Amino acid sequence: MIFFLDSCMGQCYSKCTRVHQYRAEYYGFRIKTGDSSDLSSMNRFFLHINARVCIMEINMIEASKNNNAAGKIRYGMVGGGSGAFIGEVHRKAIGLDGKAALTAGCFSRSLPLTLETGEALGVDKDRLYESYLEMAEAESKREDGIDFVSIVTPNNSHFMIARTFLENGIHVVCDKPLTTNYEEAEELHKLAEEKGLLFAVTYTYTGYPAVKQAREMIKNGEIGEIRFVNAEYPQEWLAEPAEQDPANKQAVWRTDPAQSGISNCVGDIGSHVENMISYVTGLEIESLSARLDKMVEGRKLDDNAVIMLNYKGGAKGLYWSSQIAWGHDNDLSFRIYGSEGAISWRQENPNYLKIAKKGEHVKVASRGRDDFYDHPGSYVRIPSGHPEGYFEAFGNIYSTFIDALTVKKAGGTPDENQLDFPTPIDGAKGVRFIEKCVESSDKNSSWVDF
Ligand SMILES: NC(=O)c1ccc[n+]([C@@H]2O[C@H](COP(=O)([O-])OP(=O)(O)OC[C@H]3O[C@@H](n4cnc5c(N)ncnc54)[C@H](O)[C@@H]3O)[C@@H](O)[C@H]2O)c1
Repeated sequence: MIFFLDSCMGQCYSKCTRVHQYRAEYYGFRIKTGDSSDLSSMNRFFLHINARVCIMEINMIEASKNNNAAGKIRYGMVGGGSGAFIGEVHRKAIGLDGKAALTAGCFSRSLPLTLETGEALGVDKDRLYESYLEMAEAESKREDGIDFVSIVTPNNSHFMIARTFLENGIHVVCDKPLTTNYEEAEELHKLAEEKGLLFAVTYTYTGYPAVKQAREMIKNGEIGEIRFVNAEYPQEWLAEPAEQDPANKQAVWRTDPAQSGISNCVGDIGSHVENMISYVTGLEIESLSARLDKMVEGRKLDDNAVIMLNYKGGAKGLYWSSQIAWGHDNDLSFRIYGSEGAISWRQENPNYLKIAKKGEHVKVASRGRDDFYDHPGSYVRIPSGHPEGYFEAFGNIYSTFIDALTVKKAGGTPDENQLDFPTPIDGAKGVRFIEKCVESSDKNSSWVDF
């Protein structure tokens, strides 16, 4: 097959061209580079799409040979058995780029369920384990053992599982909140550093290109000094006592302090708000005043939270997270107001940023169409108007992590852009945020230092 590479396209297309070239060479295809300025823009667009389709086909063939791990990073998963929520999202997001193969698993505390899930996913039977401990020990001894583990179990088990894999020399990706207390999160951070292992925490939403663009704009002073941040994450799914239905496992464990930790709503989604604002603005919390409520009768943990914040340097903030907000699905959003302008973004419409600059008309920047800085732009996968969403954001975090791991395995040191994924430092900050919100709320919403 010959790949035709168009060398004269606009910013988005030339970036994509580099992707095509890389992928085509990777698969051993012949490259023909040409100047197609004589082609109509429509023809150039179709060339671009054809190349993407070829690559998607190649990826699908690769995905069907999922467990042919040759030349790929190998990963294992703890949690994510059939019927679980986020494990499957992780697997599909990793599969988007075909850079890693699932080669081991302990998908459940029940061995029959692990075997059933593993068989459906094409994992060799001798690499399906009854416990994560057995998996970490066995995989660390194999020459073809997993390079990293993905931990997608309920919150209370993250610490023990992550520590076990780190101790066995295996890199870790763990879902948020990292742990159920700050000391444990710090311990994981230190252990990963001591062992020289990579560790990512999947705060999914920072994987969106538009979020990364907002970050770069703020870093480059485009909206001046930040004065006020308003961010929220309302959902409706716990507006009724869903945890009373034992079949709703996600609701059962999230509202159970033994499995969820000291908070449900702030822990589950307020922590996404904290991480998002920390990532986009770089602001550090100085103190906060929080009010956590249990709106649904009989609920053991919070389902609605309002938090006021003072940041170092003088900016102020207001966060709201809620699981009783009828009409909202996963409505994470932020509005950031600076001395020279403002930026806002909504995860339910994640391809666009609203930008208001002093003295200018309000603009909407479109991912894939409008000029993005190089780094955020490098995460754009398809032309504008074809929506990218949750899977791609997740995939971006994994793709960056896997690239960094590949560099590390080859004896190199990943650079700043290659390390653009949430770390245990971010995870620990998130856990501290949860603890401080609960502390403040328990003290009648007093201001507490962060
Ligand atoms: N990043 C995000 O956007 C996002 C979204 C949803 C959930 N999460 C996080 O993902 C984690 C899992 O949430 P979920 O909704 O998928 O839960 P879930 O209940 O749907 O799935 C949990 C899975 O873990 C398995 N499990 C539990 N203990 C285990 C153990 N010791 N060994 C092996 N498997 C075990 C269960 O059998 C189940 O398959 C939570 O920490 C949650 O906060 C993150």
